[in-house]
Amino acid sequence: MHPMLNIAVRAARAAGNFIAKSFEQPDKVEATPKGTHDWVTNIDKEAERIIIETIRRSYPDHAFIGEEGGIQGESDFQWVIDPLDGTTNFIRGIPHFCVSIALRVKGKTEQAVVFDPIRGELFTASRGVGAQLNGKRLRVSQVRDLEGTVLATGLPFKQRQHYNSYMTIFTAIFEKAADVRRTGSAALDLSYLAAGRIDGFFELGLKPWDIAAGELIAREAGAIVTDFTGGHNYLKSGNIVAAPARMLPALLGTIKPNLTDAIRQ
Ligand code: IPD
Ligand code: CA
Ligand code: CA
Repeated sequence: MHPMLNIAVRAARAAGNFIAKSFEQPDKVEATPKGTHDWVTNIDKEAERIIIETIRRSYPDHAFIGEEGGIQGESDFQWVIDPLDGTTNFIRGIPHFCVSIALRVKGKTEQAVVFDPIRGELFTASRGVGAQLNGKRLRVSQVRDLEGTVLATGLPFKQRQHYNSYMTIFTAIFEKAADVRRTGSAALDLSYLAAGRIDGFFELGLKPWDIAAGELIAREAGAIVTDFTGGHNYLKSGNIVAAPARMLPALLGTIKPNLTDAIRQ
């Protein structure tokens, strides 16, 4: 395992174990609103502190961009951290959330970890080397079109202005697919795509920390990741479509005719 991935795994496990313990003690969880329908807890913040402290011990000069702490430092090596992806699930007692850590070097994602502390599932990837779940190589599913597929998505609950555009796209896809999941963790959705548990994923308005690790894990397992037009702008726009290479044209072909200007990229 690459030494930097090794440190990322150590940080993800430390934070994940803290989150899992806190999940058993809901009386110690303090939730505060940070935007429309958007919550942060003392556990998110402490988990991010644990991750940064663990990585800094080995790489004191690296930079960090964390959901809760913003940008810290400047370096060619930047760690993109979502300490708790699935905060709403966590607050509501739904055991589906994870820690997500990616390392970007000169703007390219090189290492990725997504850790589900409830199931003990550790998804990892290194660029060019493949993706693994608890050490076992991952491959996306073999689907070629939308027929019979199970997809995952996220609802634009923070961006109600996109609600109608999103629902038009959702309906077009749902008409062709077998079923669609809304799990509440984008990082796990992308990791589940890598594992072949779902056949595709689409969501709009995500942040870099929601997707940086999961998208490398998905790509290293054979997925193609794009924005809604099939371009590469998804880390900036937050509008993401991901599917096995052979199925992606079918998914994009269903999305594109239903796009509005506001969500075109
Ligand atoms: C959220 C989750 C969710 C997605 C939201 C994200 P958070 O992240 O990934 O699945 O639909 O848009 O904000 O806030 O729980 O870290
Ligand atoms: Ca997130
Ligand atoms: Ca989060």
